[in-house]
Amino acid sequence: MFQKIKEGIDIRLGLSGLLHDTLEEYKVPSDTNIFYTIGIMTLVAYMIQAVTGYFLLIYYIPHSDHAFNSIQGIMTTIPFGWLIRMVHIVVSNLMIALVMIHLISIFLMGSYKKPREMTWLAGGLLLIIALAFSLSGYLLPWSQRSYWATTIVTNIPTAFPVVGDFLATILKGGESVSGVTLTRFFALHVGFLPPLFMLIMGIHIFLVWRIGLSVPSASKSAAYEMPWTEYGRVTYSKSYPFYPNFVRKQTSMIMLFLAVTFLIIAFMPTLFLPETATTPADPLKTPPHIKPEWYFLAPYQMLKLITNKFLGICIQIMLLGLILFWPFLDRNPERNILKRPMLLLASLALLGIWLVFTFWGKYS
Ligand code: HEM
Repeated sequence: MFQKIKEGIDIRLGLSGLLHDTLEEYKVPSDTNIFYTIGIMTLVAYMIQAVTGYFLLIYYIPHSDHAFNSIQGIMTTIPFGWLIRMVHIVVSNLMIALVMIHLISIFLMGSYKKPREMTWLAGGLLLIIALAFSLSGYLLPWSQRSYWATTIVTNIPTAFPVVGDFLATILKGGESVSGVTLTRFFALHVGFLPPLFMLIMGIHIFLVWRIGLSVPSASKSAAYEMPWTEYGRVTYSKSYPFYPNFVRKQTSMIMLFLAVTFLIIAFMPTLFLPETATTPADPLKTPPHIKPEWYFLAPYQMLKLITNKFLGICIQIMLLGLILFWPFLDRNPERNILKRPMLLLASLALLGIWLVFTFWGKYS
């Protein structure tokens, strides 16, 4: 009977034909490495965030008088509330790490080059939105850490001449971080950013699908890409179907990702939840060592070192612009970075500086 229902639905919707054409007929280079699965892992991470986020919304109260207690309730009295929240916290951190690894690996493999500039640009916007998710989510528990880290971040725009104070006031909804800021950040976190993220992610994945995955730059197997002026998907000399071959590879990596998530929750539950995250916000008591999350430590440390804050922010905005528009600036057709020692050296130096600043920010 089920077979008949399945056939009846299929005749009307044509799903099996569609899945066959889009998954089994869709070809992927057969020598892709594990870095080609980071994008899908990031996508799964985002989906986990959306699902756990909806569950948290059932009990979370976005008001400065109740936010902290509602989170404590989720952690202590709601069945499995602690698990849902821990998954949301750990995956938010892992997702940022995954986006960064995705960006770096694509950069090193030269996969951003023509005709994938727009794919890169859409990806760069996704990174910014992912960081905005973290920043806005940080304030929601209304803990000491949330309050003071947000105070630091929302003061950054004041470094801009003329409009700086105005921008900071708009962001905070007043002179200092308050219940109004909490409502604004909550609206951003659950109302504005999710549809924006879905839209840009849709464009990003559509572009990847339309153009076809790039062949690893160091690989011998060639791919034929259409001339710039024509549209056409890449054709590969050695390839296999997206389903089941590539899906199998992606599934193993997703399993690994889930395993790491649960290992952190089980054995290092305080890794992303220090003591200041478990004490309620007190606007009158500044904690001695308040620091932003690990992915903001490098820009934070840089701003601490440069006395002219405006100059510091300008340098950071220029660096971000350079990363976002890099595929349009780099016109060298050579994809293999090992054959471009100057670029390799410059990018390793930048990565090294980022690491040094991150550790310096953490331990200073
Ligand atoms: C939440 C963020 C992101 C998601 C969910 C995502 C998802 C994906 C997926 C599923 C793929 C196809 C498979 C793969 O190469 O992994 C991909 C490819 C790609 N992504 Fe992303 N991505 C994100 C962020 C980024 C960022 C930050 C960049 C760079 C600035 C970027 C640039 C690219 C490029 C250029 C490709 C094509 C690679 C190729 O054809 O070999 N993505 N992305």
